[in-house]
Amino acid sequence: MAKRVLVTAALPYANGSIHLGHLLEAIQTDVYVRARRLAGEVVRFMWAADTHGTPIELRARREGITPEALIERAHADHLAVFRDFGIAFDIYYTTHSPETRRHAESIYGVMAARGDILSKETRQLFCPHDQMFLPDRFVRGVCPRCGAADQYGDVCERCGATYAPTELGDPRCSICGTTPTLASSEHLFVPLSRHEAFLREWLRSPEDGGATRLQPTVRNYVKGWVDGGLRDWDISRDAPYFGFEIPGHPGKFFYVWFDAPIGYIGATERWCAEHGEDAAEYWKRPGEDVEIIHVIGKDIVYFHCLFWPAMLHAAGYTTPTRVQVHGWLQVNGEKMSKTRGTFILGRTYLDHLPPDYLRYYFAAKLSGDQGDMDLSMEDFANRVNADLVKKAANLASRAIKFVNSRLDGQIGAPAADAEPLLARAQARLGEARALYLDFEHGRALRAAIEIAEDFNLYLTEAAPWKIVGADPERARAVCSAVVWASKIIAAILAPVVPAWAEKMARMLKLAAPLDLQSGADPLPPGLVLGEYETLAEPLDPAKLAAIIEASRESTPVSASEVAAAPAYEVPPLAAEASIEAFAAVDLRVGAVLACEAVAGSNKLLRLTIDLGPLGQRTIFSGIALSYPPDALVGKRVVVFANLKPRKMRFGVSEGMVLAAGAADDSITVLELDPRSRPGDKIT
Ligand code: MSP
Ligand code: ZN
Repeated sequence: MAKRVLVTAALPYANGSIHLGHLLEAIQTDVYVRARRLAGEVVRFMWAADTHGTPIELRARREGITPEALIERAHADHLAVFRDFGIAFDIYYTTHSPETRRHAESIYGVMAARGDILSKETRQLFCPHDQMFLPDRFVRGVCPRCGAADQYGDVCERCGATYAPTELGDPRCSICGTTPTLASSEHLFVPLSRHEAFLREWLRSPEDGGATRLQPTVRNYVKGWVDGGLRDWDISRDAPYFGFEIPGHPGKFFYVWFDAPIGYIGATERWCAEHGEDAAEYWKRPGEDVEIIHVIGKDIVYFHCLFWPAMLHAAGYTTPTRVQVHGWLQVNGEKMSKTRGTFILGRTYLDHLPPDYLRYYFAAKLSGDQGDMDLSMEDFANRVNADLVKKAANLASRAIKFVNSRLDGQIGAPAADAEPLLARAQARLGEARALYLDFEHGRALRAAIEIAEDFNLYLTEAAPWKIVGADPERARAVCSAVVWASKIIAAILAPVVPAWAEKMARMLKLAAPLDLQSGADPLPPGLVLGEYETLAEPLDPAKLAAIIEASRESTPVSASEVAAAPAYEVPPLAAEASIEAFAAVDLRVGAVLACEAVAGSNKLLRLTIDLGPLGQRTIFSGIALSYPPDALVGKRVVVFANLKPRKMRFGVSEGMVLAAGAADDSITVLELDPRSRPGDKIT
């Protein structure tokens, strides 16, 4: 049977939009897949959206739609963004599919039959108001180790302690603010320790007689987890949960991380059904000539390097042969932030710039390790303009335009004095091919840019424009060498900026697309070049500023507006109003879930308020001079709930919190009894 190569990127959650962090992963996976294809291999890129779990369930509820409608919308949105970035996946499917369900049930079934599933009674936090067990991330309280307030149920962001949600002090449901109770529930566990021997074997590198390629630091990490003792893994969740119900356990659902990676198999199954192949040739050939390569971020190593291989092994599936882990994307040196305008969505980027600049920049900075990557806007513009425009595009443009305008477009034999440089360029193409296969995209691109540097110098020194009158054949030979070099450069760039290679192929009238093998071949003698097509335009830094502006959640108040604040005067009494007019105001109990300062305004706070069954609201309130942002969190307040939403400079305010005061810094927010229920009507 032929060798099979299957590559995946992690499956992005369907409860959010695609941002530049996702694209860092998508682009590096795409470049890898394209490079292998351009090196002559058949490579499948199987991908999907991850659609299950509590956040999706709750978000759908909040929006008043079904989870199915929510994930369908997200899926269409993801698909369009990834397509527009030129990601060459074979399929972008969904984990909420019959294929994924079938494989999840079958893997579970085999594991259960082998004794790989244990049932245990557990005690978990339960919100009596929302009538649900609370996942770790939906409980907040006081860290049991350092005492920091408002920490998640699994880890303290201040001291880094990890713990069970039941250990939190003063725990609160983060959906509604109610104190959860403890309730017991039967859960299903995979006793991972039964797979310790397998995992140790799986962790062995090819150099060590094993079969799995992992970066050394990742391997050591995972080994450390195995050495530290493998705990039982809880794979079930109680209803309400958007996911697949576990066969034989009504009201219990597979935990999203159980079926998410099975989505890789579901996507393969679907693609194979549409293309006359058999998914078993990829997934049911353990130990055979199959490569399964996962590209993931460093936050999900645990799932891909422990649970996932153990599950696959237990159920008799092919296990991953390589997991490639990358670091985190930062923008301008900091974590992406909505207020700074650096939480950039893929779509926002595309509204302003073509994908190739970002593809080039990300690829140029990737070195195949887990270090974080900084997208610095200044460096972005500089690097694209210096490398792509000034070096690579300029070289091709100088030579091709000159041949077309002064030498009838005709190419000849390359100049003899360029031969050593050409030989080096050919060798560099081979090196670049190997570098791409090691996810060293940055060094591969470096090779292309160095060829451009060498030949720009060569061209300037040989100066064909000075000699074309006296010795046109020497001028032709010089330009022919440079055009050949430009072809090699285009071949190296092909996995990263495919459009560049396509234009070059048209200008050189190539019969087949430029690839990483034939890319170094000489130009056909007697070739007449096609018309020059612009390979790259300079990146205008103003576009980057526009992207940041469009990504900002709120635009700051301008100084002139602040200065124009009205002088104090006693306002006249408003016109008389009837009691009916007052009754039309729908006042409700609101629980303050979150409250934050609004960048650019010293008066406004942005409150996230839960109205129980009515859902959540974002409300802007001019109380910042009287309340520090965290003072109101957890409090019950009075909300004017049917107030027409108002579009403000910072976003839409969906209601009003009742407060009164004589001056901005002496406002009192009306507070209700902490036991009052969010959403209840106040009469
Ligand atoms: N749904 C899971 C993956 C399931 S795979 C069977 C998930 N989704 S995610 O949307 O949160 O992230 C998808 C991928 O994007 C992950 O590999 C994650 O590490 C990566 N990134 C998300 N934000 C990122 C950055 N800011 N920077 C770099 N990668 C980031 O995890
Ligand atoms: Zn609750």
